[in-house]
Amino acid sequence: MAMAAPHVSHSQPPVGRAALFAHPTTAQSSSPLRLPLHRRTGIELIASENFTSLAVMEALGSPLTNKYSEGMPGARYYGGNEVIDEVEELCRARALKAFHLDPASWGVNVQPYSGSPANFAAYTGLLQPHERIMGLDLPSGGHLTHGYYTAGGKKISATSIYFSSLPYKVSSDTGYVDYDRLEEKAMDFRPKLIICGGSAYPRDWDYARLRAIADKCGAMLLCDMAHISGLVAAQEATNPFEYSDVVTTTTHKSLRGPRSGMIFYRKGPKPPKKGQPEGALYDYEDKINFAVFPSLQGGPHNHQIAALAVGLKQAMSPGFKAYIQQVKANAVALGNHLMSKGYKMVTDGTENHLVLWDLRPLGLSGNKVEKVCDLSSITLNKNAVFGDSSALAPGGVRIGTPAMTSRGLVEKDFVKIAEYLHQAVVICLNVQKQRGKRYNDFIVDLEKNKDIAELRAEVEKFAIAFEMPGFLVSDMKYKD
Ligand SMILES: Cc1ncc(COP(=O)(O)O)c(C=O)c1O
Repeated sequence: MAMAAPHVSHSQPPVGRAALFAHPTTAQSSSPLRLPLHRRTGIELIASENFTSLAVMEALGSPLTNKYSEGMPGARYYGGNEVIDEVEELCRARALKAFHLDPASWGVNVQPYSGSPANFAAYTGLLQPHERIMGLDLPSGGHLTHGYYTAGGKKISATSIYFSSLPYKVSSDTGYVDYDRLEEKAMDFRPKLIICGGSAYPRDWDYARLRAIADKCGAMLLCDMAHISGLVAAQEATNPFEYSDVVTTTTHKSLRGPRSGMIFYRKGPKPPKKGQPEGALYDYEDKINFAVFPSLQGGPHNHQIAALAVGLKQAMSPGFKAYIQQVKANAVALGNHLMSKGYKMVTDGTENHLVLWDLRPLGLSGNKVEKVCDLSSITLNKNAVFGDSSALAPGGVRIGTPAMTSRGLVEKDFVKIAEYLHQAVVICLNVQKQRGKRYNDFIVDLEKNKDIAELRAEVEKFAIAFEMPGFLVSDMKYKD
């Protein structure tokens, strides 16, 4: 995403809450390349982002940030943690409730600072160094922390540095996870852990099949539901808890909480199995808690945990279920409209909150479309599409609906967004025709392009009509 610091050209900066979101319009920006973060006048389509509530942000900005509380509730290394214990226990109870879990068979650690630390803590708790894991390959839509290394063998993620990773992939014909091939590879590789879940996968998962494969090769099954945890909480996606041993998640994506992470683990008696002593118990709880602290983290971020408790309460409301249903309906509307124009979506559609647009049939790369969109006040990201050869110029873009659905957009609005994206692609094709394929030639003076300026004006007029969760326009010192 456009990571430039919010650029405010007023003589006095906005203060208080308004400062979080108050940004200048195009006319006030000194350079259109310095696009500010999350403007009311922009269309936010990064699939992993959302707009959390004011209540969550107030908890994040609370004095709870001041306290050290290493350890678990009731067993801390410092005194004065009575209130902190209450907050963390409340958060854990809400986490189990929000995901419809029985506290007798599931536990949760809410201390991971974010999704990547949550995953590494889970692996550290469950595995010995160099033990084998299998996760969805990054170019297939998996996440870095699922064990990525490059085609040249360079180990990119700590997961592949400290564990032995063999990725599985999506089918190049269908774009769906190739479970048959995964099974074949798993029977040869014999991983200790199979990881499912992804960052750019538009379809639901076959957890029953994954469980069967894990059982067959003697592996544990971990689902990283980071992208879809809002859908899971709302019971609008297949339930990964039914078949997984451990479930990790971020909390700031479709779940719409603060930036944080959680690890859920099975506890209590194991189901009877051949070769296993009667009455065997799951032993994940202590291992995972020990991995989070003291192995990997120090003091928990108590303001984050409090904010998560707030976000989880909101995620249990009927309004949240309606929100998630709208997120999915919007993704379908967006994908269908783009496909009606002849464009190719990976897997020909979506069952969740995102579509993955394969731009290769157009002769375009994702970085060019991302750039033109950025300059048109639309934020999305370039993304690998299975079979891509270049990581720098991947063949697709990933488009998500959670953030704009939080601003109140419905299907017809996403049809409009699809039209803007179509216009952006037409601009890309025209520029590429004039300048050739090299990216560095493509971007020269792009900010002076008249078609982009027109598209940007239209986009900004459209976007500003929608509310922005987390602040009131009436509170803002600078309204435009
Ligand atoms: C599936 C998945 N897991 C883990 C993460 C990592 O989360 P974080 O960026 O909070 O470390 C992400 C982030 O995008 C993700 O998509």
